[in-house]
Amino acid sequence: MKCTHVVLLFLCFCFSSCEASYGKHQKNKVTNTHQLSSVRAIIQEEKVDKKCLLNKYTRRSCSKVFCQPWERCVDGTCVCKVPYQCPKNGTSVCSTNKKRYPTYCHLKSFECLHPQTKFLHNGTCTDEGKFYVTLNYGITDSEGIVKVKLVGQEQEMFICRSSWGMAEANVACFDLGFPQGALHTQKRFHFSEDLHTKSTECLQVHCGGFETTLAECAFSKRRVQGSQDLARVLCYTPDADLARESFQCVNGKRIPAERACDGVNDCVDQSDELCCKGCQDGSFHCKSGVCIPNQHKCNGEVDCITGEDEVGCKGPEAQEGSRPVTVLSRASHDGLLETAAGHPEVQEETEILTEDMDTERKRIKSLLPKLFCGVRRPEHSRRKRIVGGKPAHMGDFPWQVAIIEEGKISCGGIYIGGCWVLTAAHCVRSSRAHRYQIWSSLIDRIRLNSEALIHQVERVIIHDKYNGTTYQNDIALIELKKHLSQKQCKLSSSIPACVPWSPYLFQPKDRCIISGWGREKEHKKVFSLQWGEVNLISNCSEFYPNRYYEKEMLCAGTDDGSIDACQGDSGGPLTCVSRNNVTYVWGIVSWGENCGKSEFPGVYTKVANYFDWISYHVGRTLISQHNV
Ligand code: ARG
Repeated sequence: MKCTHVVLLFLCFCFSSCEASYGKHQKNKVTNTHQLSSVRAIIQEEKVDKKCLLNKYTRRSCSKVFCQPWERCVDGTCVCKVPYQCPKNGTSVCSTNKKRYPTYCHLKSFECLHPQTKFLHNGTCTDEGKFYVTLNYGITDSEGIVKVKLVGQEQEMFICRSSWGMAEANVACFDLGFPQGALHTQKRFHFSEDLHTKSTECLQVHCGGFETTLAECAFSKRRVQGSQDLARVLCYTPDADLARESFQCVNGKRIPAERACDGVNDCVDQSDELCCKGCQDGSFHCKSGVCIPNQHKCNGEVDCITGEDEVGCKGPEAQEGSRPVTVLSRASHDGLLETAAGHPEVQEETEILTEDMDTERKRIKSLLPKLFCGVRRPEHSRRKRIVGGKPAHMGDFPWQVAIIEEGKISCGGIYIGGCWVLTAAHCVRSSRAHRYQIWSSLIDRIRLNSEALIHQVERVIIHDKYNGTTYQNDIALIELKKHLSQKQCKLSSSIPACVPWSPYLFQPKDRCIISGWGREKEHKKVFSLQWGEVNLISNCSEFYPNRYYEKEMLCAGTDDGSIDACQGDSGGPLTCVSRNNVTYVWGIVSWGENCGKSEFPGVYTKVANYFDWISYHVGRTLISQHNV
């Protein structure tokens, strides 16, 4: 506690002293800024998750972030869609090679495959001329005041500084031939005042962060307010002198260390924002370890993979979907302590010059097919407060199924959609497929409820690396037989649980639910479906030395061990619910030493590790929530 205060005081002191000395004592300022940034770097050190960095995550890592609508997620990486996989609905756009594309998505997926083709303007191709960006009055080729020539506009124009942030600066640098984007957004350098004060108008620009040319960003025009009102940039070159501690991006770019985990994509590949234990002020921490800018909170678009950035939002007025005319809180990136206060709020009208492709991107996203899974019918959403080991009611666990062998429930299973049920490998044998029955919507095996349905089994697929002695890869799929002359499986009261595609959806200490017809602690028989709440547990090898395989297994239990799975629960679900109320099958009941002993938590198959295996067998479209 005390320590934080000292650091904060020091920060405050530094801020004010830097501000006061700025201009007058140039040298003094530099030292103070330097000290400040090293303090920031120390604070930063604690925010970055070093172990996570080894995975080299980028904006293309779909275990951390969503793919663009013109991409799809395959084996943890966003890959280019083929244009025909884009939604048809939309208006045409024109590319730099003067070709017309039916929609923006078609062009972007074409560009994804052939990066030399870029967006030029909305509408059909005409002879309205070129788009380009120039740097002016700089000492080197990589810095200067930014000017843009828009298609359909006669003159090059300056960009207003108030709208200028890292997203915009990075894109401008791409246009200028610097693939690693910008280093600073407001680099100071000398130029004579009268060179630009002649111009009375500047362009407000807003980019969404996915663009490859400024032509895709939204432009409007407004009056210039002062000599300091124009956007400048220093583009990144590999020889850039950072003169302080740096963070190494996956793409090789080096950025000042204190700019990691601040919600701003400085790296261009986003690698500075994907392994964060916490986030700096002005940014929001997704549970998956990703920092997003505060402006993305409650903006109507889900950014965190578990959706928490769009929960508890006030109402439609908070969910503005269009571009902000004024951006007030842009993080200053030159370490020169410029704050939003430096930019007066812009209230005068602006004239919109280009279409907002960010809005178009969102529209395309909303047209993509949506997967139905993990959402209970509203009348069955249980009360929030849960005790444990309670009998379930109809509709509470609509994905739960029972595997019946020789008239008895031998194991549990999880319905994941289509004709597919997920279970533990140790529960089933391929050769016995014809002997199993799968009961769906079952609650009580003595007093049968009318919704219960019996299904025959078409085939059983056991993981090829299942090891019966170590219980590694304890996972299997059961395909249900379709009813005569029917194309689909009918499981009327069942709802599939979602299959997790990322290991970052849930973390240790999260509360999840187990359910099954397995035995009670004293090995009492159970006739009706029971459920209980357990916590995800980290460091499980402490409990099971040499028996626990981190990558493939996960542990869950309660402090006193009072809630646990037991004999007969195997193959059943450990489900976790995301902040936006979607239920995932996070684990499959697999093994454990005894039942209900706090020193021996239950061990579950880590389903997220098998997403690709499952989708290979059941088909990607059945379980892919995003961008099939
Ligand atoms: N292997 C057991 C079964 O076949 C499940 C054991 C789970 N045990 C536990 N303590 N969580 O049903």
